Amino acid sequence: MAPPLSWLILGLTALNPTARVEAAELTSLVNLFIGTASGANGGSGGNAFPGAAIPHAMAKVGIDVSTAPRQAGYIHDNSSITGISLMHDEGTGGNTNGGYGIFPLFPLTSCNFTSCPVGISARAALRKAGADAAQPGYFTTTFTNNIKIETTSTRRAGLIRFTYPNAGPNHVVIDLTNDLQRSFEGGVLSVTSAGRVKLGGTFLQSYGPANYTVFGCYDFQPPETVQAQPIATFGTYQSTSLSSPSTLNITVNSTDLNFPWTSNSVSREQAGALISFNSQTVLARFGVSFHSSDQACANAEAEVPDWNWDTVQNASANAWEDVLSRVTVDTTVEDATVVELLYSSLYRASLVPANLTDENPYWDSPYPFYDAFFCSWDTFRTVHPLLSILDPIEWGGIVSAYVDGWRQTGFIPECRSNTKPGYVQGGSDGMIPLGDFAVKYGSRAAELGVPSDDLYQALVDTAENTPPDWYTVGRQNTAWKQFGYIPTDWVDPSGATGLPTREASRAWEYALGDFAVRQAAISLQKSPGDVAKYANRSMNFVNMWDPNVTSDGFSGFAQRRYPNGTFAFSPPNACSPVDPVGHSCARGSDNNVGFYESSSWEYSFFAPHSMATLVGLMGGPEKFVSRVDHYFAVPYFLAGNEPGFLVPWAYHYANRPDLTALRVRNVIYKNFNTGIGGIPGNDDSGAMASLLTFHLLGLYPVAASKQLLIGSPLLSAFTLRNNFFGTSTSFTVTGFDKSSLTATPPSGSRVFVKSITINGQPSPSLCWINFDDVVGGGKIEIEVFGDATAAAAAGCGLGAGALPDSLETGGFAP
Ligand SMILES: *[C@@H]1O[C@H](CO)[C@@H](O)[C@H](O)[C@H]1NC(C)=O
Ligand SMILES: *[C@@H]1O[C@H](CO)[C@@H](O)[C@H](O)[C@H]1NC(C)=O
Ligand SMILES: *[C@@H]1O[C@H](CO)[C@@H](O)[C@H](O)[C@H]1NC(C)=O
Ligand SMILES: *[C@@H]1O[C@H](CO)[C@@H](O)[C@H](O)[C@H]1NC(C)=O
Ligand SMILES: *[C@@H]1O[C@H](CO)[C@@H](O)[C@H](O)[C@H]1NC(C)=O
Ligand SMILES: *[C@@H]1O[C@H](CO)[C@@H](O)[C@H](O)[C@H]1NC(C)=O
Ligand SMILES: *[C@@H]1O[C@H](CO)[C@@H](O)[C@H](O)[C@H]1NC(C)=O
Ligand SMILES: *[C@@H]1O[C@H](CO)[C@@H](O)[C@H](O)[C@H]1NC(C)=O
Ligand SMILES: *[C@@H]1O[C@H](CO)[C@@H](O)[C@H](O)[C@H]1NC(C)=O
Ligand SMILES: *[C@@H]1O[C@H](CO)[C@@H](O)[C@H](O)[C@H]1NC(C)=O
Repeated sequence: MAPPLSWLILGLTALNPTARVEAAELTSLVNLFIGTASGANGGSGGNAFPGAAIPHAMAKVGIDVSTAPRQAGYIHDNSSITGISLMHDEGTGGNTNGGYGIFPLFPLTSCNFTSCPVGISARAALRKAGADAAQPGYFTTTFTNNIKIETTSTRRAGLIRFTYPNAGPNHVVIDLTNDLQRSFEGGVLSVTSAGRVKLGGTFLQSYGPANYTVFGCYDFQPPETVQAQPIATFGTYQSTSLSSPSTLNITVNSTDLNFPWTSNSVSREQAGALISFNSQTVLARFGVSFHSSDQACANAEAEVPDWNWDTVQNASANAWEDVLSRVTVDTTVEDATVVELLYSSLYRASLVPANLTDENPYWDSPYPFYDAFFCSWDTFRTVHPLLSILDPIEWGGIVSAYVDGWRQTGFIPECRSNTKPGYVQGGSDGMIPLGDFAVKYGSRAAELGVPSDDLYQALVDTAENTPPDWYTVGRQNTAWKQFGYIPTDWVDPSGATGLPTREASRAWEYALGDFAVRQAAISLQKSPGDVAKYANRSMNFVNMWDPNVTSDGFSGFAQRRYPNGTFAFSPPNACSPVDPVGHSCARGSDNNVGFYESSSWEYSFFAPHSMATLVGLMGGPEKFVSRVDHYFAVPYFLAGNEPGFLVPWAYHYANRPDLTALRVRNVIYKNFNTGIGGIPGNDDSGAMASLLTFHLLGLYPVAASKQLLIGSPLLSAFTLRNNFFGTSTSFTVTGFDKSSLTATPPSGSRVFVKSITINGQPSPSLCWINFDDVVGGGKIEIEVFGDATAAAAAGCGLGAGALPDSLETGGFAP
């Protein structure tokens, strides 16, 4: 048996990504194509981004397909390719055509300069079957005409290489106007005979009403020592008229294009540059910026100074190795599928939010700037908690950027997408990671770059104030404070507006947001009055509980309510996977059920800070267990949707962790796999990836608290490394049983937790563990056994506090 991989990695290169860990190569375990199947016609559509990027990069370089849906540009099918572009979203919903996809390049061969097919439809090319290949930091494919495409990148720059089947002249299209949405609203391009192309364009964001302006820079003359590629001809092209955008006019020696900004009216415009090379290989260096094309060029010069492909690719691979090595397992011992899922998930959980520090075009600030909070509704549950365990250094930057958003607008950002505020889905769920940060790192916030007084004020302002339009940021606190719930059919006398739908699910999220303030108030030693006030408000979810509604024999459901207190009935199965009626369940004004992208059946389980309250409202532990069972059996559960993330673990709160152990395995094996359809829905900026990581590790984070639910891992041993504390915490599973690695573990397989010891001391709870122990650098030993009856009887253990905390029963004590 080989030594555990962790021994090879620990202490070697923790904070030094330039020293490559040859022995590890965890990057080789990442499958970048998981979740890249088409979402068309009911496909699983993970919208994962498989191109080249470093962790939390601004530049995400990848090929774009011609068919939608293609939120991340790429789909693993046989559709044609229209270009390789510089930035992408990861795993998002939003506009089905995608986000970003800016300034694509396209390689052409065997055409005469002024008649080359430069237009987006004319140039589209098919890939050779099976030609797509990727590893962290590198992507390649080959067209059926034998042109090979490769790319690798840094934070704001990178290299793209085209290898043609003949010596040329060969051509490269530099497309100014076609982002993924074809939303061009104006821009400029210049090209020089020395092969420098500068671009700037204004495009629409993919989830929100705003536009953004972005800049690019391409250089096509590498040092001769790297690559000789003489320029034969250059020029620009553009539509001859807007009414016939496919009729293109290519002008030799033309150096400039300039399209004044016009609100979305020139979106079909096609324009760009064309360069011909007397060379079989063409190397392009690019940079991106939100400030100017000069800054984009400067970013390219700074980050890829000598055009050395191996240097760039190695640095990217090393950065990924560092991220992946924060969880180590013995790959020779563990189940190969679990290992592939684990490292592929860790990879995708670290693509966004994107570090745009020094690239904030909107305000001067000494603080970090991050993009792709897309959306906090998706990411608060698992993305942020995973960062809290493995990468508080990156998380500190992200949290600081959230706080800096409040400095500008008075409210914590919710769904910043393509640098602009997107739509608010429910609560102001950025509150929860901020509360979580205060709880876990409040005493050392300054070391992580977060001013804790500002963080707290951001929470209080977001909890108290109501913006004029709470559809882009903030909450409807006028209603929340006046009623203690969100009323239906109420005209706000303050004049504040937003989409007045999703009343019930918003209220339940507002309650959790207030719990996050309560938690921060305790951790940051704010006034007892604040602690009590926000604790009280966090329990207001019960005000939207109608005990008289019955469904499938179960009583009591979350419901909408009028200002006079009367409940407004919606069928609890509305917007569930088995909804017999086609309800509108999105944000729109036609949503008349009160729940966002979920049902009352599902939201009625959503009070992570006081699950005991729900157990009580639902009629006690036994009724609760049968209700959770029924939710999965029907199913009202939709594995690809965030409001259901917690429910497989809900049995813990009814003292039945044995049922959680079985349910989590069932959810994993029925919904996740290593294929292109291996994510049950959009990856949602790493939400699914981080959820699966927690499931595999046998952990689930309790929002804005130091508790993690603990269960039965799918690994026999693993080590978690925290890059701020410098700790490595080892988990071992005594009696680990590979026969339990299936959707329905056979009777007798050792899937149940029998005991837990923390640094040699028996844990009083078999259901939860403290964050301090998860990152404390010690040894956690979990013993598993196969006796279902004994496991059911043992529950969470006998000690006081064995059940996970709930506010109503005195949990989360200061
Ligand atoms: C692409 O694949 C689909 C189904 O997988 C098939 O129907 C279609 O003919 C293929 N198209 C091409 C151009 O190969
Ligand atoms: C390019 O131009 C030459 C000379 O005008 C012509 O013979 C040739 O067919 C053209 N090639 C293409 C691909 O259009
Ligand atoms: C779009 O861009 C223009 C020019 O930058 C700006 O005036 C306008 O306000 C933007 N529109 C939106 C919706 O952001
Ligand atoms: C072709 O483009 C050039 C400049 O790039 C312009 O002067 C000319 O009018 C265009 N011709 C047509 C037919 O649009
Ligand atoms: C483009 O410029 C080059 C260099 O000045 C010149 O030799 C060539 O004739 C020009 N071509 C056209 C079509 O104007
Ligand atoms: C890149 O890494 C490979 C091994 O992974 C090594 O052979 C090569 O020398 C490295 N190149 C540079 C430029 O660092
Ligand atoms: C974000 O990027 C900036 C600029 O490169 C860098 O200084 C900073 O360390 C990055 N933040 C994190 C948390 O890595
Ligand atoms: C919250 O405060 C109100 C007003 O003081 C009180 O009526 C209510 O019982 C409190 N709720 C809880 C859960 O403590
Ligand atoms: C539930 O029904 C009972 C009996 O009809 C009624 O007295 C009670 O007010 C109802 N509760 C609510 C919250 O509507
Ligand atoms: C409360 O308001 C709703 C909606 O206007 C109405 O249908 C209901 O009868 C009212 N209930 C009472 C008790 O007035």
